[in-house]
Amino acid sequence: MSTCTTQTAASGRRLDPLLLRAEFPILEQMVHGHPLVYLDNAATTQKPRTVLEALERYYERDNANVHRGVHLLSQRATDAFEAARRKVARFVNASPQEIVFTRGTTEAVNLVAQSFGLQHVQRGDAVLVSHMEHHSNIVPWQLLCERVGAKLLVIPIDDRGVLELDALDRLLSPRVKLLGLVHASNALGTLNPVAEVIRRAHAHGIPVLLDGAQALPHAKVDVKALDVDFYACSAHKVYGPTGIGALYAKKQHLQAMPPWQGGGDMILSVSFAGSKWNEVPFKFEAGTPDIAGAIGFGAALDWVDSVGLGAIAAHEAELLAYATERVRELPHVRLIGTAPEKVGVLSFVFDDVHPHDVGTILDQQGVAVRTGHHCAQPVMERYGVPATVRASFAAYNTRADVDALVDGLRAVREMFRV
Ligand code: ALA
Repeated sequence: MSTCTTQTAASGRRLDPLLLRAEFPILEQMVHGHPLVYLDNAATTQKPRTVLEALERYYERDNANVHRGVHLLSQRATDAFEAARRKVARFVNASPQEIVFTRGTTEAVNLVAQSFGLQHVQRGDAVLVSHMEHHSNIVPWQLLCERVGAKLLVIPIDDRGVLELDALDRLLSPRVKLLGLVHASNALGTLNPVAEVIRRAHAHGIPVLLDGAQALPHAKVDVKALDVDFYACSAHKVYGPTGIGALYAKKQHLQAMPPWQGGGDMILSVSFAGSKWNEVPFKFEAGTPDIAGAIGFGAALDWVDSVGLGAIAAHEAELLAYATERVRELPHVRLIGTAPEKVGVLSFVFDDVHPHDVGTILDQQGVAVRTGHHCAQPVMERYGVPATVRASFAAYNTRADVDALVDGLRAVREMFRV
């Protein structure tokens, strides 16, 4: 359990990032002779000791296959794996039967596209996404549309990176068989008004999938309150291991959807005359899953609960406000993504320096940011830039990290004399 938050009467729990940092061994290292300043959390977050220990404990004590053995280790592994499913379910207010473990958000979206999508989208139909999607919420739908002869429609965004709701209304029609929307944009930081979008889509009978990869670590997700049909997320964005994530889907959808991959564990019986599928969610989990990863995912959510998602969100909002103000002070900087509702993502460009050069110089000073198109090339195209520099915040970041970023950016300016 983390003990790095304190209770205050006025604002609920506040976290102390300096105390939290001590729980992340990786943050103690030096990079190119400087203390590591890790500001690439939208790409992947670092893992607290409790997650690392959960992974080690599993492999040291319990390693066995799940749902298959009568021996004690297999029972322990199964119990821990299913306990992790219950933790994910509780975290998003779902039932465990509605949680399918996947390799991550990308696989979750592909699962829906290839199972629900193939079942419901036909020639002449459409799938609707927004202009701020990550490639993982574009390409699976393009593949589906090409295969069945449907069209991909796009909800535009304004110059701040805010979804154009009037345009959404014009695009909603009986042709649209599914709306896929990012909950929080990895490239812009925009936190979308998902409850309102779902309400409008449902008024037309259109199911909604949310890409929650960037939202889960920062915003309370309640799939029941949202009434969302599908919610895709990844453990590694929320202090858990890579290679594991989850798809939430309404039970009635999962029951009606065909399996998308065949293999062990997803069947009740197999014969050459035909096979019968296992109950949900196992129907969608063919083969040996990432058992340790799921357990680590559960441990990560426990860690977030122990710190408090509200405290994390408030801390990141403060850091984002501070970083935005400080980066704005620099000449020749353009922020990309200035929506009023954002998670802790700050994307920007210098007028005359390529983002990759900025990233390389920052790295020399121990500051890790992401530079590139962030797997969101349509967003780059929308703003007329090839790439951006992106700093993204997590619970363990401090104002000193932001200061190190700004000092590094000043060094870039001096080097390039822009
Ligand atoms: N999608 C991840 C990012 O935004 C990798 O960096």
